[in-house]
Amino acid sequence: MSRTAGALTLRSMAVTLAPGLIHHPGWLSRGEQEELLAALREAARVAPLFTPRMPRTGKPFSVRMTNCGALGWVSDVEGYRYQTTHPETGAAWPSIPALALAAWRELSGYGHDPEACLVNHYVAGARMGLHQDRDEEALDASVVSLSLGDTGVFRFGGTQRGGPTRSIRLQSGDALVFGGPARLVYHGVDRIIAGTSTLSPHGGRINLTLRRVTRPSP
Ligand code: SIN
Ligand code: MN
Repeated sequence: MSRTAGALTLRSMAVTLAPGLIHHPGWLSRGEQEELLAALREAARVAPLFTPRMPRTGKPFSVRMTNCGALGWVSDVEGYRYQTTHPETGAAWPSIPALALAAWRELSGYGHDPEACLVNHYVAGARMGLHQDRDEEALDASVVSLSLGDTGVFRFGGTQRGGPTRSIRLQSGDALVFGGPARLVYHGVDRIIAGTSTLSPHGGRINLTLRRVTRPSP
């Protein structure tokens, strides 16, 4: 829960899940969640959700995606990559919403802004298998994740595939930071729990991950 006292926003207590993996329950207030959702709806008019596909097999993901920022993450039969344009419209991605940028500046501890904000949309039954976020050159920058809408069962392990894992629930407004020794942890989403949020009348879960992709020039 976060409360606004005058100009000062008091944020919730952070929970360290593993070294470098920090959960901030209720980082965004309800008003901020609504504002961010409205900004994402605007962004999706410019950059509609698309269905990514697995490299080589072309199997569709159950999650639909879009991006904001100078670079967007895409996946198709040719592989995973960042690119400057939407894979279907060919247009540049819209800018990163102000509240997401503010969260990055407060939480990442990185002196440069993110270049990519991947927006994942989960409907009931959607999931994301365990993976590492490793398509970025700037692995010294944390990944900052924000969740909106229905609760997601988020699973994480260590930096080796096949090690022990744990799950936590990410609720609407939560932030999660993966940095330092946790930058390359395996993570995924087992399922979403339908009906756990009133944020969107359509239900579902949205997750934003903010990433610095290129190394800043010195
Ligand atoms: C991701 O790893 O891209 C998404 C994680 C999440 O949905 O919480
Ligand atoms: Mn990821």
